[in-house]
Amino acid sequence: MANDRRPDNMVRITTPELADAFIAKQVEEIRRQVGDKKVLLALSGGVDSSVVAALLIKAIGQQLTSVHVNHGLLRKGEPEQVIEVFRNQMKANLVYVDATDRFLDKLAGVTEPEEKRKIIGGEFIEVFAEEARKLEGIEFLAQGTIWPDILESEKGIKAHHNAGGLPEDMRFELVEPVKILFKDEVRMVGKRLGLPDGMVYRQPFPGPGLGVRCPGAITRDRLEAVRESDAILREEFAKNGLEGKVWQYFTVVPDFKSTGIKDGKRSFEWSVIVRAVNSTDAMSATVENIPYDLMCHIVDRIVHEVPGVNRVLYDFTPKPTGTIEFE
Ligand code: XMP
Repeated sequence: MANDRRPDNMVRITTPELADAFIAKQVEEIRRQVGDKKVLLALSGGVDSSVVAALLIKAIGQQLTSVHVNHGLLRKGEPEQVIEVFRNQMKANLVYVDATDRFLDKLAGVTEPEEKRKIIGGEFIEVFAEEARKLEGIEFLAQGTIWPDILESEKGIKAHHNAGGLPEDMRFELVEPVKILFKDEVRMVGKRLGLPDGMVYRQPFPGPGLGVRCPGAITRDRLEAVRESDAILREEFAKNGLEGKVWQYFTVVPDFKSTGIKDGKRSFEWSVIVRAVNSTDAMSATVENIPYDLMCHIVDRIVHEVPGVNRVLYDFTPKPTGTIEFE
């Protein structure tokens, strides 16, 4: 394909006008490539797949089927947002699969981080392939590959094809409409396509989701504690002007309990660790200085609103030596 690589002289898409021109060109390109055929997309709700979905909906409407797999490790409100934006607002052809029990059953008792990642990735492909087999006449697979993915896979740092592990009998031609864009350009394009800011400017979120924020064997009670405390942290950062200013922030619930006092009685419950870091490329990171009063308020909300939690800790470790995630 002609635009397989980012042209050396390509102007960085930094204005609405440049984004609109890119969208118009891609819509034409997609229509030419796909014709009247059908396209499948794994829609995680992350920036890249959401922008690809919005572009394809604009170009080919109902010829796109998007599959949103909820692996039970998403943040609070995420599956609901995908359904609201794509099915209700953009009238997309969206298949929603709640595979929570499947994933959590497979992960039960698994403690090793890379083994957890492998199970989550493998199960994802399986669920996605099962849904794809139920659909007829799909000839294309759309992917949210972006330019840094291609550069990194060329350098051998990582494999860039998210759905690269699909079974042998499922061979699709790829549609990768944002593959020559940098992340900031993808966001600009997403904004012009009408996606909400909460989707376009969201912080990085790992594929294995909250699974790596529940260190060791994932249990449903700790997973809920991660989800609820993360929602409180995000809400407070948004209310206090830190959203968009801090690069990545989240909570972790490690596998140990400590003694505390609740309602005048001894409690023996989980601790929540808050992590908030700044970075430009995720290779190194510094710790955000959260105002003391805000931190006290966040602690107060978490210990009173999240069941099973009696203590909150703040991770003061930069990367290196700590990685951003705990696993
Ligand atoms: P670390 O923990 O290595 O994280 O300092 C660097 C950045 O990568 C994200 N991350 C992942 N993203 N799958 C992903 O898609 C993963 O398995 C994964 N592990 C870490 C992390 O959130 C941070 O932004």
